Amino acid sequence: MEQTWSIRLIRFAAIFGVIGTFIGSDMAGRTDYAMTPIHAHMLVVGWLSVFAWGIFYKVYKIRRKALVSLQSVMAMAGSFGLSSGMWLYFLNPFNWNDTFVLIYFIVGGSFLLLAFALFVVITFMIEKETPAHAPARK
Ligand code: HEM
Repeated sequence: MEQTWSIRLIRFAAIFGVIGTFIGSDMAGRTDYAMTPIHAHMLVVGWLSVFAWGIFYKVYKIRRKALVSLQSVMAMAGSFGLSSGMWLYFLNPFNWNDTFVLIYFIVGGSFLLLAFALFVVITFMIEKETPAHAPARK
């Protein structure tokens, strides 16, 4: 379970990384910095935080598997919802209804907040491990 979510999170992070750096390059090229907060959150949340969670699940086994799935789904939904919600809220490129955009942004941010909170709980639910290099018992 952890292994499956680990690689899913890392792939998701990699996609966010490439889109986030593309936005940064585009901003620098056009000298238009309106997308700075979206660029920053896509990279710091979508790339760095999600990647860190992916590596954590690669290293540790968790006692409650359902929490791994829940936290991973929240992490992906939250980082997507926060970044896209921020883009819609700050720039409103499609002229969508302001209240809808605000709620979208808040829901995205709340998913992310829950993912961070759930992760605290998960760090206390790791299985006791056998050290990887322990001498073999005879
Ligand atoms: C192709 C690579 C990148 C390019 C071309 C790029 C470009 C930029 C540009 C033009 C800004 C706006 C600066 C300003 O407002 O004066 C910026 C801000 C920022 N970038 Fe990037 N960036 C890149 C990669 C990254 C990465 C990998 C991260 C984090 C993992 C990152 C995090 C940030 C943050 C946090 C800000 C906001 C800084 C602030 O407002 O004080 N960037 N970037």
